[in-house]
Amino acid sequence: MASVTTGGRTPLIAGNWKMNLNHLQAIAFVQKLAWSLKDARHDFGAVEVAVFPPFTDLRSVQTLVSGDKLQIAYGAQDVSQHASGAFTGEIAAPFLAQLDCAYVIIGHSERRTLHGETDEIVAAKTAAAIGAGVVPLICVGETAEDLETRGASAVPVAQLKVALASIPKGSDFVVAYEPVWAIGSGQAATPEQAQQVAKALRDTIAEHLGDEAAAATRILYGGSVKADNIAGFMRQADVDGALVGGASLDVEGFSAIARYQKHVGV
Ligand code: PGA
Repeated sequence: MASVTTGGRTPLIAGNWKMNLNHLQAIAFVQKLAWSLKDARHDFGAVEVAVFPPFTDLRSVQTLVSGDKLQIAYGAQDVSQHASGAFTGEIAAPFLAQLDCAYVIIGHSERRTLHGETDEIVAAKTAAAIGAGVVPLICVGETAEDLETRGASAVPVAQLKVALASIPKGSDFVVAYEPVWAIGSGQAATPEQAQQVAKALRDTIAEHLGDEAAAATRILYGGSVKADNIAGFMRQADVDGALVGGASLDVEGFSAIARYQKHVGV
């Protein structure tokens, strides 16, 4: 079945595990996910599936994925802005590249609020990832207060502008629109709200990097995505996938989200 998004972009269903599942649990999870998708004859060329385990799981996931030739992609949840040196506890982008990480999440709202990540740090991390050949998945989103005082798009657009300044033309990157009020709350944005902000983000990419980059870049929605609400988001012209937190920890639930085309009805 062909992709349901416009512009020839391959939809991406990404599972952000956050600080859950150790490396043994990760192996069991990815194995089961691969079986579930294989059973359902999932077409990975039509909808890409990626998981984002904790750092300590990545080597095990790499071994499993390469050993069993799985089509599931994976990435890290954060990265240092520095390439090497005296930065205790940090992980450099070239280390992730060495583990065949296709992606890295940058600027998740939990990093911004709990770890003081500014737009400038997010921009530096984005540049570090691109420099190492790892595709950054840049998260932006407004708080409930921002939404009330400035509307939905203002903050995500402003956050993205700073990151875009560090992205050379022709780079592959992904943007995730995640309203902070929707993350882990069970209260997802409506598909129309997600579309409105995704469109504003795409227009911002066009202004900074040109129409071609805007048309090629995938914009995901994140925040309380589940199997029973994914279809509505995927019907939107500018929403090219989802960044899934809580629901990505259930194999069958996440597998069903990845197979949303079965219930989109196109
Ligand atoms: P949630 O988290 O799906 O549990 O709301 C999304 C995220 O934080 O990426």
